[in-house]
Amino acid sequence: MKLSGSQQTRLRQYGKWALITGASSGIGQELARQLAESKMDLILVGRNKTSLQTLATELQQNNNVSCLQISLDLSQTGSTQQLIDAIGNRDLGLAVLAAGFGTSGSFLTSDLQEELNMLHLNCQAVLEQTHHFASRFAGRGKGGIILFGSLVGFQGTPYAAHYSATKAYVQTLAEALHVELQGTGVDVLSAAPGPVQTGFASRADMQMGAALRPEDTGVPILRALGQRQTVLPGFLTKFLVGSLRLLPRWGKVRVMKQIMGGMTAHQRTV
Ligand SMILES: NC(=O)c1ccc[n+]([C@@H]2O[C@H](COP(=O)([O-])OP(=O)(O)OC[C@H]3O[C@@H](n4cnc5c(N)ncnc54)[C@H](OP(=O)(O)O)[C@@H]3O)[C@@H](O)[C@H]2O)c1
Repeated sequence: MKLSGSQQTRLRQYGKWALITGASSGIGQELARQLAESKMDLILVGRNKTSLQTLATELQQNNNVSCLQISLDLSQTGSTQQLIDAIGNRDLGLAVLAAGFGTSGSFLTSDLQEELNMLHLNCQAVLEQTHHFASRFAGRGKGGIILFGSLVGFQGTPYAAHYSATKAYVQTLAEALHVELQGTGVDVLSAAPGPVQTGFASRADMQMGAALRPEDTGVPILRALGQRQTVLPGFLTKFLVGSLRLLPRWGKVRVMKQIMGGMTAHQRTV
């Protein structure tokens, strides 16, 4: 899938540089490729220096764009300020905040420290970064911010109880800012995918059946920025959200228990 020339031009109008957190893998990496094809210079953020370097080399060679790599653990206190300092006064117009991870399995046996780490990365860091970039972009009268919700963020999801709560937080923040920032020139979008084959499942220790490829998600997400409040990338995501739509919220939670229960059953039988 490719963006059209006019869609690429529209993205470039946000500014010369785009920031992508979570660029070293999965959906963030796919978005970095699409933005490089749109001829935007890129700030690539993740912890894995080798993956960032490999991606930067590929994008510079194929697209003749500049790439700044920032290796940073965004779950650590003070990391947002380090990120802001590293970006400096570059003409940044787009912030894609894809860094995140999930956990799964029984809440009772979950590791509290890991859950707190996830809370910091998925929520606190996203809040700090969104707070900075929203003000920065409003000050220059234009900008785009893409946050990552999830199918599991539209209702409580047993066996991913805390992960789904972090994604509900992001979804709610994005929906509100999409409306509140209208008139400032700042577009805010929530991208809420269903299952996608990335590094996500192995880190969350989930077993995914049907899943999108990362390549199925980048173009729909970038097309929706400035047009929609929330994008459900790919047919599978639309199908899954659509099938739950008619249920009351308590019913959705019970269906999600069956679905997530299947994806995490291996953890609970050992
Ligand atoms: N895949 C799915 O099924 C799915 C569905 C719905 C929503 N999402 C959301 O989509 C976003 C992208 O996930 P993905 O599927 O592309 O997963 P992924 O392939 O595991 O990528 C996650 C990215 O986040 C970065 N990251 C993780 N921990 C970090 C930390 N402490 N500091 C800095 N960067 C960190 C990783 O880089 P390093 O390892 O190099 O740090 C990686 O680039 C996440 O917010 C996820 O919650 C995913």
